[in-house]
Amino acid sequence: MGSPEFRVVDVHTHMYPPAYVQILESRTTIPLIRRFAGAADPRYIILPAEAEALERVGEDASSSHLPGRPVTSHYSSLAQKLHFMDTHKIDISVISLANPWLDFVPSPEAGETAKSVNQEFSNMCGDAPGRLYFFGALPLTAPPEVLLASIDNIKGLRYCRGVILGTSGLGKGLDDPALIPVFKALAANGLTVFLHPHYGLPSEVWGPRATEEYGHVLPLALGFPMETTIAVARMYLAGVFEEVPDLRMLLAHSGGTLPFLAGRIESCVVHDGHLVREGKVGPKRRTIWQVLKEQVYLDAVIYSEVGLKAAIDASGVDRLMFGTDHPFFPPLTSDEQGEWESMTWNSEAVKKALGDGSDGAKAVLGNNAVEVLRLYKTAQED
Ligand code: URA
Ligand code: ZN
Repeated sequence: MGSPEFRVVDVHTHMYPPAYVQILESRTTIPLIRRFAGAADPRYIILPAEAEALERVGEDASSSHLPGRPVTSHYSSLAQKLHFMDTHKIDISVISLANPWLDFVPSPEAGETAKSVNQEFSNMCGDAPGRLYFFGALPLTAPPEVLLASIDNIKGLRYCRGVILGTSGLGKGLDDPALIPVFKALAANGLTVFLHPHYGLPSEVWGPRATEEYGHVLPLALGFPMETTIAVARMYLAGVFEEVPDLRMLLAHSGGTLPFLAGRIESCVVHDGHLVREGKVGPKRRTIWQVLKEQVYLDAVIYSEVGLKAAIDASGVDRLMFGTDHPFFPPLTSDEQGEWESMTWNSEAVKKALGDGSDGAKAVLGNNAVEVLRLYKTAQED
């Protein structure tokens, strides 16, 4: 574990509790989990490109060309999560359900499904007190009163510190006025929104060669970050941050490309005749830079010093929080029980950008998360 003066915290780390795995196993359209003859692990298929590959392979494919990713013990086993944490000297993990969360659950079931999934997260945290906290999942397809009641439910769960949210909202994105009461309820209860991508960009963008030849690189490396960038830009343009000033958002993958593109967003706003005529570019306007420094936190899951420095420049060293994205991106040529590059690349980036052992590095590796997400030890856990 980390040295006594600071604790290493992983704020971007996923779990699939057994009830959620069961739902995925019962499905015939994405997202789904399917077993293939001859393959040791079932496969998790979520992206549209993988659904196309699934249609092509049928049920009996050779294990070298199976769609999706293997569902290993790293997805659901608490012991495995703790092993990963111990191997990488991570003191605390703030676990969350992975994409696409409950976005696909039929409306009448969504409230109860959220309740049971959140309870499973709560139980896992209770089984490893002091080492695990969680971001809950919201039943976004449920009627508004059920959705708001679910916030009431999770705010009472001892280890819950926020919610993980995709970019689709209630179906119209996060700039939908119908989401304002949800953001207000989350903000009023001190629940941070962990914004995470899933839908990427339309497949046509990747061209005809992508599915066969380029693996998952384009949707994951580029589609995910652009999706996050666009979602937050839309919220900003819609005035959501003004309307809910206490809203706090933690953006996955260091905010997508926001730190790099914030200047361009500003320039386009100031030079937009429509916005100027509507009086939206007056002296009281809060810039996207201000929002990034006042209402946004960024995870440090960017794998390089260059991107991390941009994120620190945009939001401040006190607003970056370390993460791994475990169990995604396992090592493919070394033992999965050993070291993962998701840890080493991201922690190396922090050390290179801020100096090994510096106050800034300690802040990003853990102290910021402890403060922002209130991960304080209780007497029970000492
Ligand atoms: N791929 C996903 O689908 N989700 C993640 O969080 C990371 C990679
Ligand atoms: Zn993730």
